[in-house]
Amino acid sequence: MLKVNQLDKTYGQDKHSLKSVSFTAQPGEVTAIIGPSGAGKTTILRSVNQLIRDDGGQILLDDQDIRQANKAELRKIRHHIGMIFQNYNLISPLTALENVLHGRLGAKSTLAGMFGLYSTAEKTEALALLAEVGLKDYAYQRCDQLSGGQQQRVGIARALMQHPKMILCDEPIASLDPKSTKIVMDILRKLAREKKLIILINLHQIDIAMSYADHIIGINDGAIVFEGPTAQVNDAVLQKIYRQATEQKAKVAANEA
Ligand SMILES: Nc1ncnc2c1ncn2[C@@H]1O[C@H](COP(=O)(O)OP(=O)(O)OP(=O)(O)O)[C@@H](O)[C@H]1O
Ligand SMILES: [Mg+2]
Repeated sequence: MLKVNQLDKTYGQDKHSLKSVSFTAQPGEVTAIIGPSGAGKTTILRSVNQLIRDDGGQILLDDQDIRQANKAELRKIRHHIGMIFQNYNLISPLTALENVLHGRLGAKSTLAGMFGLYSTAEKTEALALLAEVGLKDYAYQRCDQLSGGQQQRVGIARALMQHPKMILCDEPIASLDPKSTKIVMDILRKLAREKKLIILINLHQIDIAMSYADHIIGINDGAIVFEGPTAQVNDAVLQKIYRQATEQKAKVAANEA
């Protein structure tokens, strides 16, 4: 389980981006973080694997506080946290298979990693993961010749190559059409269910969050304003989560009138 307690993050002197943020995300479930632009969704995800240093709080992954880990421990913990990005973050001249194999880098010695030395077992596993995300026939295709949806699926296979406990996804479908969105979200939900992974996803699309998430975290201006099962999200909850955006739009509209 991921348990975040009273996480704080201030950028510079006065930009309070996370205000005592607490929430949990369970294995086997899809947890979606929703909220207006600038609310702090990306800051939460980047704090969870300590890509940015927060200012206080606790981040417990299976009872180990990631914030207290030393460099070597953090490297180990990070190796079991997959990341999925809006822009896929693949190495484009390389093939799908090579990109998936990159998921093993964190587990290898620097030298073996540098020379791209992968075992037959690792290659077999990478091919199986590509098949699992429906890309069996694309293993040897360059990534820049794949569609966005296909590239995102390579990203998922790469994350799985890390044998993750948890996958963090920052707007994974923001650049995808509805058909690819469905394919990618179906895969993420299936991974949560079948591999008992913690899937934590930042989403802008409320409808997708409502149809795929088991658990919803609503953030507004750096503070959690809702946490609970998706079934409890109603219009009043959504208004609370998106309050600032609505008020700002009203102000802009009033100024333009
Ligand atoms: N490196 C930074 N330096 C200063 N302020 C930052 C930095 N990164 C983020 N912020 C601020 O922190 C707040 C939260 O940003 P964050 O990127 O987490 O929002 P978000 O919810 O992911 O937004 P979006 O939906 O647009 O991706 C914003 O006000 C943003 O301007
Ligand atoms: Mg963001």
